[in-house]
Amino acid sequence: TADSETSLRIALQKDGRLTDKTINLLEGIGLQFDNYKRSLMLKCRNFDVELLLIRDDDIPEYVQDGVCDLGFVGANVTAEMGADVTTLRGLEYGMCRLSLAAKKDGIIKTVSDFEGKTIATSYPNLTRKYLEGKGISSKVVTISGAVEIAPRLEVADAVCDLVSTGNTLRANGLEEIETIFESETELIRTNKDLSPGKKKLIEKFLVRIDGHQQAGR
Ligand code: PRP
Ligand code: ZN
Ligand code: MG
Repeated sequence: TADSETSLRIALQKDGRLTDKTINLLEGIGLQFDNYKRSLMLKCRNFDVELLLIRDDDIPEYVQDGVCDLGFVGANVTAEMGADVTTLRGLEYGMCRLSLAAKKDGIIKTVSDFEGKTIATSYPNLTRKYLEGKGISSKVVTISGAVEIAPRLEVADAVCDLVSTGNTLRANGLEEIETIFESETELIRTNKDLSPGKKKLIEKFLVRIDGHQQAGR
């Protein structure tokens, strides 16, 4: 339809750390939506945009496949997937780091101590790549959530997980050994061909985002 050719579809995290901040940014650049807690798909009232609220882990793939034109997602998620997308902007919120961590005061004290150890993570690709780069061979076990309890359950010697405040690690008796990836929220764009109308809309959208970011400094 004519509508889907011009209306920008933008993915964002449905229910997580980036959700409110992303909605605030979109409202900050003048877009108006109905109460977003109610719906997975939201039409913007005053801009040719619709929002798709989905799991953050699904966003890079949706944008890669062109199901969504743009997405707001942590750089960690896009990098882990190795998604074929273009990063348009780094947005300086949702800052966090992906770090190797192990039991506090345990035998793992530096990155070389990970040799031969079992590491639980939701980021197996980034973890393996990093360790391979250091010439360290570890066993990487992929777990989709609550990674931080794996050492206590003795399913792993250590973890590689996202750290923001560090509270989760501390609460689980773990300490950070090495940061392997620094992350922030990014605005990503599909590499699929877009109609001239959509390209224009993206330009307008970026002008507003840049203005908003500069005003916030
Ligand atoms: C990350 C990570 C920890 C927590 C760390 O999860 O998996 O659970 O944040 O934050 P802290 O250092 O401030 O305690 P996230 O909220 O990104 O959600 P997800 O794992 O569901 O994607
Ligand atoms: Zn997630
Ligand atoms: Mg988590």
